[in-house]
Amino acid sequence: MSTTNETRHSKIAAPRTVEASRDQQRVAKSLWPVSAAPNGKAAIEQLKDRLREDRVTRLALMFLDRYEGIHLKDTVVDWMDDQRRLRMCGKTAINFGCDSLLGLDRDPRVQQALVDSLEEWGLHNGASRAFHNAALCEEAEHRLARWLNVEDTLIYPSVTLANVGLLPALAGKGDLLVVDRQSHDTLWQGAKIAAQEGATLKELNPCTGEALRKILESEDYEACVVAVDGVYSMTGDIPPLDELDRVTREFGGILYVDDAHGTAVVGPHGRGATAMMLGSLTNVLMVGSLSKAFSCLGAFVTCDRPLKRMLKIRSSTFVFGGPVPPPYLAAIIRVCDLIESPEFDEILGRLRSRVRQLTDGIRSIGLKMTGGKSAVISVTVGDIEQTLKAGKWLFDRGFYVQSATYPAVPLMGGILRVQVNAIHSVEAIDRLLDALEGLKTAFQLPTV
Ligand SMILES: Cc1ncc(COP(=O)(O)O)c(C=O)c1O
Repeated sequence: MSTTNETRHSKIAAPRTVEASRDQQRVAKSLWPVSAAPNGKAAIEQLKDRLREDRVTRLALMFLDRYEGIHLKDTVVDWMDDQRRLRMCGKTAINFGCDSLLGLDRDPRVQQALVDSLEEWGLHNGASRAFHNAALCEEAEHRLARWLNVEDTLIYPSVTLANVGLLPALAGKGDLLVVDRQSHDTLWQGAKIAAQEGATLKELNPCTGEALRKILESEDYEACVVAVDGVYSMTGDIPPLDELDRVTREFGGILYVDDAHGTAVVGPHGRGATAMMLGSLTNVLMVGSLSKAFSCLGAFVTCDRPLKRMLKIRSSTFVFGGPVPPPYLAAIIRVCDLIESPEFDEILGRLRSRVRQLTDGIRSIGLKMTGGKSAVISVTVGDIEQTLKAGKWLFDRGFYVQSATYPAVPLMGGILRVQVNAIHSVEAIDRLLDALEGLKTAFQLPTV
């Protein structure tokens, strides 16, 4: 039977049966998707009304409207340069909100590796890695493993996709998954999927070995995974990973650490907060970022070869998602060259010296702050309105920092989040400290 448009159309045009008439309605709906809800409102308007009922959404929208021009969120950057200056909202400022912590985004050797690979591989190899892997991906995984002293690693396109794909792959029906309350939202998203698929999900609060012990003693489980950040992304603090690991091992579980902010920044040879606190990465799963200090794109998890094989089958974001494009893999390999060269000590040393300069300065001003063991340093403000206005005050004086408010931090826990980069100059940090001193008086910031 012919299924041309014409025959389909004639069937719709002249419905003779109830079935045909239903068909017609279905087609009409797909042609005119703006359907009316029973109250006469378009369904899309109804949906938006429904979304506005959510308390956090309403609060965020209210602040975005009330502090338009002040909150500096969702802004457009017109340009950036190799001195970490950026232009946005009609002003030029030094960018202290940049994840590219080692400044390798501006390294000509890393850029050249990307360009050379682009000519050979094109922009994208265009298929899930479940079908085929670019040789560059295998090479990058082995180079990361060599740097970290582990058997192997598995690359994902982002830390988000790693967390969301890995946790449900690691903990299922009959298993226990404990997640630190303060850990990154993406760990919670992955954990919620694991819980949906049958894992028992428990919140760790406070993040101490003692609290963890209480949970592990009171639950029955086949396997147990404890998930936590290596460096909290907002405060820059490092949780007691050694204590958590000890208790987890005692109960036969495995620690899973999202070390996005520790990768290539914290610990010996930049191997991360996990390696620094535990001494090695054996019997622990560490997720690292390739988008922050690496200045490229993606993430990886440390593993041995048999586990890697299983994760490739069990992790849905790996199986059903796309890969990191080859030019970025070439750039990652080039960063691995740098990390394994004596030059890395100099780059990392420069970053750490800038971090020290800022933390020592903030201490001598007397401001309350957290972090400083990675490149994240957060100055405490408190109230949401004050935090947004303090961020704008600094921006007007030529410094962009991230004013972070609820729900990214607790309700009255507003902070100015500073990310130090190895390419910030000593002079730029001195000037930021002068501005922070002025801010302390202008806003009567909390002191220690
Ligand atoms: C701890 C942590 N995990 C995950 C992410 C998300 O990383 P990605 O942008 O690679 O998805 C971030 C982002 O800043 C983070 O800080």
